[in-house]
Amino acid sequence: MSRRTPDEPWAWPVTRKALLWLWLPILVITAAHFLTPDTQDWLHDILRRLYYMPIIVAAFLFGMRGSLTVAMVSSVLYLPHAFMLMDHPGSMLHHDPTGTANKVLEILLYNVVALVTGLLVEREHRAHAALEQQMVQMRAIGAQVIRTGRLQALGQLSAGLAHEIRNPLATLKAAAALVGDTVPETSPRRRFVGILQQELERMERLLERFLAFARPAVLLMRQVEAATVIENAMDLARPQANLHSITIESHAPAGVTLSCDPDRLAQVLLNVLLNAVQFSPDRGLIEVEYERRVNTQGAYHVIHVRDEGPGVDPVHRDQMFDPFFTTRPEGTGLGLSIASRLMDEHEGWIEEENRPEGGAEFRVVLPA
Ligand SMILES: Nc1ncnc2c1ncn2[C@@H]1O[C@H](COP(=O)(O)OP(=O)(O)OP(=O)(O)O)[C@@H](O)[C@H]1O
Ligand SMILES: [Mg+2]
Repeated sequence: MSRRTPDEPWAWPVTRKALLWLWLPILVITAAHFLTPDTQDWLHDILRRLYYMPIIVAAFLFGMRGSLTVAMVSSVLYLPHAFMLMDHPGSMLHHDPTGTANKVLEILLYNVVALVTGLLVEREHRAHAALEQQMVQMRAIGAQVIRTGRLQALGQLSAGLAHEIRNPLATLKAAAALVGDTVPETSPRRRFVGILQQELERMERLLERFLAFARPAVLLMRQVEAATVIENAMDLARPQANLHSITIESHAPAGVTLSCDPDRLAQVLLNVLLNAVQFSPDRGLIEVEYERRVNTQGAYHVIHVRDEGPGVDPVHRDQMFDPFFTTRPEGTGLGLSIASRLMDEHEGWIEEENRPEGGAEFRVVLPA
């Protein structure tokens, strides 16, 4: 059977599988019942109990809705056979020669068994789904712990390096401005001055990102509306999305309060949203959704970001949170590692899963 989520409704038993495993056996049992002479008590006893098979199978395939439907249909089919009189004159015998109390009890039992097996199967399915969700969560936490270790080492190295580069870079920028002033506007060398300044600025921006990544964030925790943080991040991502007519839609309910550093959380969401924009096709749709997750480990706020892009290549899944890992020609590969680090500071994490219908889904998980 396909994987079900805990709140996905069970299907009605009207599929091909139901025809083969439920309705056909019931038809055969009923026909056999009607065709068996009333002198064969023992055969009637067996046939009457054979109805339990499709009832139990229905519970496993279609839950309680399936088992009860099959039990009721079996009861209705069995009723005329159980209580209809034989049609030869003078006979007071029923088709099924067993005692009335037995037959009434059997019909009652069909429905009780359907109810109990249906309930048990549904409970088992819910427990299974919850366990599966916890396993996904445990894997994400485990991966985050490993990442954090690697990031800390790298963070220290890059912080030291960035710090050492920052001072000479400031001197270089000042010098470039001074030298630039001495080159006349009309000189062909002016172009090189432009390149010099442009590249120095690019280095500065890169350095800023390095430092943002390396600096341990001091969180300013506050109580904020989830919708506000999401809207802030969306506003920042919109200019890039508009360039490709990409729609960003949010379904965050009002009245959900998060305890977080709103600027940092918005930064996390922005990084995830920008990736979604960068990997979306033109005119694509990005959906942002809020979900409250409760399991044995605790309660969490989960913000989903879904895109319609190619999804994350499974080969890259282990590396995508690593600093400098990128598959985009113009990427630095720092976006997700910064986001992951910031979530770690919040004692949260980021999960990723490709959607069955195509595209990637990133989930930013924050303890509630
Ligand atoms: N929504 C997504 N769909 C498909 N792949 C993604 C998505 N988000 C991230 N990735 C993969 O993870 C890699 C790392 O992402 P990350 O944000 O860290 O870096 P980047 O976007 O490449 O560069 P930067 O964010 O630093 O500009 C991406 O290059 C891409 O391979
Ligand atoms: Mg990115």
